[in-house]
Amino acid sequence: MEVVHQIVEKHNRRKSSLIAMMQDVQKSEGYLPREALEIVAKEVAVPLSRLYALATFYKAFSLTPRGRHIIHVCTGTACHVRGADKLMDKLERDLGVVEGETTEDGKYTLEGVRCVGCCGLAPVIVVGENFHGKLSQKDLGKILDKYE
Ligand code: FES
Repeated sequence: MEVVHQIVEKHNRRKSSLIAMMQDVQKSEGYLPREALEIVAKEVAVPLSRLYALATFYKAFSLTPRGRHIIHVCTGTACHVRGADKLMDKLERDLGVVEGETTEDGKYTLEGVRCVGCCGLAPVIVVGENFHGKLSQKDLGKILDKYE
């Protein structure tokens, strides 16, 4: 957890930088381990409960380990109309998880999100930073094969 001490130092222990510190921890560890939050709370002198409140309020934060690749299935209106549910069903079946969970091997986390801003390509999934559009269930295997 040395890295957490470094992150706190980098932000000069400023209470106003709590979210930035948490973002750095999440980037470094892949999620927000309790031990890391305890260090931040102690060093910045804020209640641990405040960090948990922030962690649960912002969807970008995760309190549990996340996969190496985050699969976001767009569930916005355009994607919903064009079969986002079927994509989610197929991914849940193939990966053996339900929305919000991470595969046992730590490879993927599956999440639903609201419109990702490219409705013309509906239905869309985003794996990491890569957008894949105009999908049907049969396209998903080929896409996932690309990721290690
Ligand atoms: S609704 Fe899916 S990209 Fe807009």
